[in-house]
Amino acid sequence: MAALWSAALGADLVICDLDEAGLAETEKRLVDMGRTVFSQRVDVADRAQMRAFADAVHERVPAVDLLVNNAGVGLAASFADTTLEDRDWIVGINLMGVVHGCHFFLPKMIERGGGGHVVNVSSAAGFVAAEPLCAYATTKFAVFGLSEALQQELHRNAIGLTVICPGIINTPITRSSRGRGVFDRSDARQELVEGYERRNY
Ligand SMILES: NC(=O)c1ccc[n+]([C@@H]2O[C@H](COP(=O)([O-])OP(=O)(O)OC[C@H]3O[C@@H](n4cnc5c(N)ncnc54)[C@H](O)[C@@H]3O)[C@@H](O)[C@H]2O)c1
Repeated sequence: MAALWSAALGADLVICDLDEAGLAETEKRLVDMGRTVFSQRVDVADRAQMRAFADAVHERVPAVDLLVNNAGVGLAASFADTTLEDRDWIVGINLMGVVHGCHFFLPKMIERGGGGHVVNVSSAAGFVAAEPLCAYATTKFAVFGLSEALQQELHRNAIGLTVICPGIINTPITRSSRGRGVFDRSDARQELVEGYERRNY
């Protein structure tokens, strides 16, 4: 969504995602809008991939103007049902993905000296924690805290930062999210999908 809105306002884009089909579809829509696009399959949790992606971007432009750290996944599970592998997975994407985005793209924005803006996507679960989103809320509170502190720091460089905390929005996240324990059942998944559809945001 951020990519399409930015393109509509005349921006050229660099985009990444783990999902190659989704990435190709977004790229096509952006190119059809007349924009120049550089897209690459990247796992935001993977430090080496993010470093390589940022290097490739900075070979093309001195710095990005707008950095959007959006990639995220969901996990519905009690604390007891959450495996350590689940924790690594969700922290790697939801928190370290944002850290990697800021770490590899911000220095060039600061060095260029032309200002800019960072958008980090947290969640309503980034300031109101509720069962069964213990692990998810952990990551989103962290993104919120990171963003609030970083916003103050970036002020000196005329770089703004917005942290977005959406509520329930009907997106494919309902199908990609993991469920554990009582949430690892097809009826629980169906309930989640239908609940998001009913809200219809
Ligand atoms: N939908 C909601 O109700 C809701 C509410 C609050 C916050 N959010 C947050 O909004 C952001 C966007 O989510 P969405 O609802 O649009 O879901 P979405 O599934 O449509 O978008 C998430 C994107 O992240 C990508 N992604 C997942 N893991 C990745 C990885 N390791 N590396 C690179 N890309 C990866 C997915 O392929 C997908 O394109 C997420 O951070 C999510 O936590 C969503």
